Amino acid sequence: MNPLKFYLITDTHYFKNSLGAYGEAYEDFMDGEQKCFAETQAIDEAAFAWLEKADEADILLIAGDLSFNGEKESNEAFSKLLHEFKEKSGKRVYVVTAGHDFNDNPFAFNENGRYTPEGTKFSELYDLYRDFGYDDAIAFNREHLSYVAELSDDVRLLVICNDIDGKKHITYDDEFLGWIEAQAKQAQADGKMMIAMEHYPVLPGQPILGLIGDATQAESGKLIDTLADNGVHLIFTGHMHNQSINVVETAKGNKFYDVCTGSAIGWPAFMRLVTITDEETVDVKSIPIPEFEWDKKGLSGEEYLIAQFDRLIKTLIERMETDPERFMRKVSIKPTPLLMKVFPKIGRKLSKMTVGKFARLVFVKADPQIKNDSLVEFAVSFVRSIFEGNQPYVEGTPGGDTLLRVFRRLSHLPPLKKLKSSQGEPLDFYETMKHTVGNYGIDDYNAVLKLK
Ligand SMILES: [Fe+2]
Ligand SMILES: [Fe+2]
Repeated sequence: MNPLKFYLITDTHYFKNSLGAYGEAYEDFMDGEQKCFAETQAIDEAAFAWLEKADEADILLIAGDLSFNGEKESNEAFSKLLHEFKEKSGKRVYVVTAGHDFNDNPFAFNENGRYTPEGTKFSELYDLYRDFGYDDAIAFNREHLSYVAELSDDVRLLVICNDIDGKKHITYDDEFLGWIEAQAKQAQADGKMMIAMEHYPVLPGQPILGLIGDATQAESGKLIDTLADNGVHLIFTGHMHNQSINVVETAKGNKFYDVCTGSAIGWPAFMRLVTITDEETVDVKSIPIPEFEWDKKGLSGEEYLIAQFDRLIKTLIERMETDPERFMRKVSIKPTPLLMKVFPKIGRKLSKMTVGKFARLVFVKADPQIKNDSLVEFAVSFVRSIFEGNQPYVEGTPGGDTLLRVFRRLSHLPPLKKLKSSQGEPLDFYETMKHTVGNYGIDDYNAVLKLK
């Protein structure tokens, strides 16, 4: 077969800036956000200007969460941007829509605070995005805005969407799984290679994300078996705004890869360039989102996005001390008078604590190279690395060895012995954490995947 190349971008969360994203209530909201908001239009415009000139491929895939939160004007403006992109670049564009693309209650901020601009209905998405996959599909499922497109003479793309009218992030029902299976079988019968794209990851990006229900497609095992056992071994996903590549093997011994890409508008902000060399070999590369026009306060684009990411975690720890009620609401703990007194004390201690002191609290020793580092700074960088991928805290490094000693100690705590994934499987705390803070598997940025 002839090699095939395409670019992929995801979670563009385009927000039409003229709707308003400023003021006190806006800044307050942004204290708890990983991604950008006001800046998204500028970032997306820069990314698409780059892609317009990028000449290694003439196909672009977009893995969902196209608009910020389903504001109608954002969807209309993004659809216009895609039309112009297609016209100017001559590239073909294939999208999948997702939960953030239709909404009855989106929000924006102006001088009067938070307000509700007009939303987008699920039924309106077809007309907005029909030129980006639906209309030249060889199979189209209108209820699910799902389809099969021919990327080349040899390769088909199966686009699946399970955020439909009134229902978001639900289990694949038998009828839809049947449709998916039929498409995979048809590709095999026609002698074509098939790859897939959906918004939600089907494998947790990092093991700890397996604890969070919203981090993966509900009951994804069924979908994986349906695809992998019918010749589809690779899916491209987004949603969690993290960079990861994972593989699993089905009971029948078929491999299945999930390539999850970071959001264009929040750190880690990357696109992918994918080369399908042959039916068994796929080369995945990562490309940083280009610089964008914004008052970045002297920072580079990358530094600016990292600052927003870190702001989320630092504010959370700060609030434990300064606004415990808000802190508890954010982490879903019910505020009680006792906790209102306890959290400020914990917050105060944490903000001054070193890594060494924390380690001593759980009766282990920190590595001398990091024992005097601030615990908060250390926590911020290791949480960030979980989303960045290629996590550096592996065995044999000062941070890795210290964390592994802490996890070993904590693993004896009774509640951590009964850990279960969101899909109900038992999880070993120590192994989960070890592989969460250190990457021992596939390179999350640049890798050659062997599908069979
Ligand atoms: Fe998203
Ligand atoms: Fe999402």
